[in-house]
Amino acid sequence: MQHAKMALDVTVESPAAFAAWRAASLRPAAAPTNAAAQAGQAIVTGRQCASCHAIAGTPASGQVAPDLTHFASRRTIAAGALPMNRDNLAAWIADPQAPKPGNNMPKVPLSPSELEAVVAYLETLK
Ligand code: HEC
Repeated sequence: MQHAKMALDVTVESPAAFAAWRAASLRPAAAPTNAAAQAGQAIVTGRQCASCHAIAGTPASGQVAPDLTHFASRRTIAAGALPMNRDNLAAWIADPQAPKPGNNMPKVPLSPSELEAVVAYLETLK
């Protein structure tokens, strides 16, 4: 039995900052405004990603994986497995089993340009 690595950031904030954070976290994802991110959204909501992940405000409504609505606001990827940045995000999507062997996300085949579009879209999910 293998236990998943789990890391949580705990932050203490003023009531006003907490209220602002809570309002932001309940907001649906903003619609992407540039062409690459729009192409990425079509891929993420149209491929297998959407059957595992939910993104509020889009057709993606999977319930077996982390909600991605505000994914880009996190400081790490995959519960602390990787620091959040563009290269790590691309590496994760291209082959999630390499950085975190045994996790429940399969490799979804994407061309290099599709991968770039998906990363551009995920980066908009603040
Ligand atoms: C079969 C279900 C499944 C599919 C299909 C899938 N994922 Fe995942 N995904 C997961 C699971 C489970 C995790 C959590 C892995 C972990 O942390 O152990 C995850 C993690 C992630 C993360 C990191 C989330 C976080 O909170 O750090 C991103 C980003 C992501 N997936 C994007 C995608 C994209 C984009 C696709 C399609 C190309 C996709 N996933 C397809 C199950 C899936």
